Amino acid sequence: MNKNRLLQLLMAHQDRPVSGQEISDDLQVSRTAVWKQIEELRKNGYEIEAASRRGYRLVRIPDRVGTEEIMLHLTTARLGRPIIYKDTVTSTQEIVREEAEKGAKEGLIAVANEQMQGRGRLGRVWQSRPEQGIWMSLLLRPQVPPRYAPQLTLLSAVALAEALDSYLPEPTTIKWPNDIRIHKRKVAGILTEMQADMDEVQTVIVGMGINVNQNDGDFTEELAEKAGSIRQYAGVRQSRPQVIASILKSYETWYNEYLTNGFGAVKAAWTAKADTLGSFIQVETSRQTVEGKALRITEEGALQVQRSDGNTQTVHSGEILD
Ligand code: BTN
Repeated sequence: MNKNRLLQLLMAHQDRPVSGQEISDDLQVSRTAVWKQIEELRKNGYEIEAASRRGYRLVRIPDRVGTEEIMLHLTTARLGRPIIYKDTVTSTQEIVREEAEKGAKEGLIAVANEQMQGRGRLGRVWQSRPEQGIWMSLLLRPQVPPRYAPQLTLLSAVALAEALDSYLPEPTTIKWPNDIRIHKRKVAGILTEMQADMDEVQTVIVGMGINVNQNDGDFTEELAEKAGSIRQYAGVRQSRPQVIASILKSYETWYNEYLTNGFGAVKAAWTAKADTLGSFIQVETSRQTVEGKALRITEEGALQVQRSDGNTQTVHSGEILD
């Protein structure tokens, strides 16, 4: 039986019970099959009232980022198809990597409720506690030369930032290369991991960590000053499956644009949201700290900085210090 259809039906009639007969007619299955499926939903945290003769009524939807919950909102053609959901993982990056090695198609995503070893950029740890955020990785197989891979990093920032904007009272900004911020606090981060041979990218795994429902006090002391959540700015909890569907929709739109027309529109959108271009910055790279005015991003997604001696330095990887 199509679990999704059953959920849709219950959700469409939350104001009144739906009879077992009505459901079994709609889904073309026996009433016993309906009952079993209702039990299955209850195990997953759905609160469903059953009144004898009158039927079933959905009373509470759990805050779950499972496959069915995301599917209820998903409007994409390719991204998020399929979805692998696991309650606890080391890192969703590993799940996608394993699937990619088995030949999984572009569009597959892995989502977890909790990551035990969530990874951030530059070897950092990414705090990924249960229920609080979205911890998700997406598999892409773009047919582009490896030198273009950083473009996908910037594309990811644009797609994610635009999707989050629809949940926030004011627009997010992007700190190079791809921290999504609001009032200079980081609400989402992206980790892009690529495998390529000499001429072509094989896989790109885009890991997205979004702080959704954390409240004051939910971040560690170290993060409390730098991090923020959508809830803190929007004032209300958000439905994580709905936010995931919005992100995938936005991502698909930008990815299609990129594959069809190239980097131009992505670069313009990224530049419009950048919160450090034009300012004096310090960038820490693996070898040195570069100081100067942030000028622009290049076609390769690198940052150009005008140093005080007048020379322009191009930085490919690093962290802008706040
Ligand atoms: C950053 O440092 O800003 C990047 C953070 C990326 C975190 C996400 S959560 C899902 C995926 N799995 C991981 O282990 N990391 C990424």
